[in-house]
Amino acid sequence: MIQNTPTSKPGPDKQFIVLIGLMGSGKTSIGRRISDATGLAFIDTDEEVVKAAGCPIPEIFARFGEEEFRSGERRVIQRILEGAPAVIATGGGSFMDSGTRNAVAKQGVTIWLRAGLDTLVERTQRKNTRPLLRGGDPREILAQLMEERYPIYGKADIIVEVGAEHADQTARRAMSMLDAFRKTGPIL
Ligand code: S3P
Repeated sequence: MIQNTPTSKPGPDKQFIVLIGLMGSGKTSIGRRISDATGLAFIDTDEEVVKAAGCPIPEIFARFGEEEFRSGERRVIQRILEGAPAVIATGGGSFMDSGTRNAVAKQGVTIWLRAGLDTLVERTQRKNTRPLLRGGDPREILAQLMEERYPIYGKADIIVEVGAEHADQTARRAMSMLDAFRKTGPIL
């Protein structure tokens, strides 16, 4: 556990716990465990976008395009942040939006689940609901997304390495890093 450059400070406003990371990094499974352990509600932004649009993500992309999905995602996250404190599992692209990034940084502690390429490839094979991975070789697409996004994800308050270990274990590590952040500040 190494102290990170202090881009963000723990504070009373940071009531949300916000999980970020690429598709397949485990935001939903870790988020649910943190929710169970803390008693905070669990909210998955993808699910909220689907509810708001009334159709599944591949259909939103196909019918309205990625831009429209992104603006729906931005609105949904703003609305969630206006509600009661919660654990939020975000869609992998949402933290790339500077407005969303600033809003979650202000109101939440951000936790990046950092996974290696093999882990992401293996885990994303289990579902076929991600339009971004349908347009070519998933390994190449994920490698490209890692290059584009990891420097931005690196702005998170806490970085948790994820890999082969059980989700229970990862969630426990994330929560002890969260405790340390709340006492001292950003953790890498
Ligand atoms: C996306 C990730 C997906 C979903 C959409 C786009 C992305 O969510 O929001 O398919 O741009 O990385 P998960 O990260 O929960 O799979």
